[in-house]
Amino acid sequence: MKIQAINGFKDILPGNVIRWQYIERCARDIFERFGMQEIRMPIMEKTELFVRSIGEATDVVEKEMYTFIDKGITMRPEATASIMRAFIEHGLHVQQPVQRLYTIGPMFRHERPQKGRLRQFHQLDAEIIGAVEPRIDAELIAMGQMLLDELGLKTSLEINSLGCPVCRPPFKARLITYLEQSIEHLCEDCKRRTHTNPLRVLDCKKPSCRALVVEAPSMLEALCPECDQHFQEVKEALQALRVPFQINRFMVRGLDYYTRTTFEFLTSDLGAQAAVGAGGRYDGLIEQLGGPPLSGIGFAMGMERIALLMEQDTESHLPAASMDIFLAALGSETLAPCSLLAHLLRQQGIRAAIDYSGRSLKAQLKQAGRVNARFTLIVGVDEWSRQEGILRDMTNQVQQPFDMSGTPEEQSLRLKQLLQTTIH
Ligand code: HAM
Repeated sequence: MKIQAINGFKDILPGNVIRWQYIERCARDIFERFGMQEIRMPIMEKTELFVRSIGEATDVVEKEMYTFIDKGITMRPEATASIMRAFIEHGLHVQQPVQRLYTIGPMFRHERPQKGRLRQFHQLDAEIIGAVEPRIDAELIAMGQMLLDELGLKTSLEINSLGCPVCRPPFKARLITYLEQSIEHLCEDCKRRTHTNPLRVLDCKKPSCRALVVEAPSMLEALCPECDQHFQEVKEALQALRVPFQINRFMVRGLDYYTRTTFEFLTSDLGAQAAVGAGGRYDGLIEQLGGPPLSGIGFAMGMERIALLMEQDTESHLPAASMDIFLAALGSETLAPCSLLAHLLRQQGIRAAIDYSGRSLKAQLKQAGRVNARFTLIVGVDEWSRQEGILRDMTNQVQQPFDMSGTPEEQSLRLKQLLQTTIH
């Protein structure tokens, strides 16, 4: 019996890895333009870290975590909590008051797998820690938008504010009173959520809940003056950076640590999985985890979702993987010198492919085409005896003799120079 990968855990095959590498390159490039530095954390953390940050009454903590119960450790369902843990543990704020950090890697959630939703998925995660200004919110959101734009994706941006520990509790109480009045019309999940996590009812997708929620009190109208001011300034700063957005007063995030600004980058091209990326402010989180009273804001984008969108978009062209040269050794006596030549070229930074099977020239040229070689050096027995080879430009099939006299090092240097002058 063949062994297959676990449900919801997927291989990323070479043809697709090109796209993933491109996304990562673009992300690193843009993040670094904004002064972000990379951080890498372990994949497992103490379970308590996620319970205390993401929140006990969230779907992620209640039912989606991969936890080793006997060891008290969990495979990270997201990156923010781990970054905050590392930030506090290493006192990063002491070196630099504002830290701009990003990470790229796998996350694990036991969700029902479907298109764009996996159990092991990958996030591009960016966080700015230690800055309170609304312009920071706008700058971070604009950075996410820049990445999506450079990847050629068409998404929309929605923003909201979830208030703070001053204005949210009275709002929650009002919301509970409102929901209780019509509790029989809510779905089973929302009946329960009304008391455990009433804000979640606001973004329930079930039609009966939605109908009720339209009339529900709005957090945006209940913001305290400071949160209201912050939200106004975020909107103005986004406009100043020419980032288009819409306000969605029903947006509540699935993680409990958020305060004030929240946002989502959405697509209508992935069926039920609308969020390509999402994030927000988490001003109390670091202190709650035992660190200094610093605020933070960040987002994460789902790499599978980005890759799927790029795959669906026929207009997005990716550079195909390619080799600089293919060495077609014809006849057994040319194999040893050609394999050394390929090795020396590779030492000098040239992408060189070679076939040891001794197949016909036709078959080897076909192979050169398959690996997308820019040139093929054909070394036949007769040419080799005259210390010559034939260099074939694979783009126009033009051939020229190549001098194979001298030591292997001399041959490889001559070939490298020729390739460089011809390519550029
Ligand atoms: P999140 O909304 O849970 O936020 O996830 C962010 C993104 O990760 C989603 O928009 C989606 O693209 C992707 N994603 C989430 N779950 C899955 C899944 N099962 N399969 C595929 N993709 C998925 C966070 O994780 C926060 N830590 C974001 C953040 C950073 N907030 C502040 N800083």
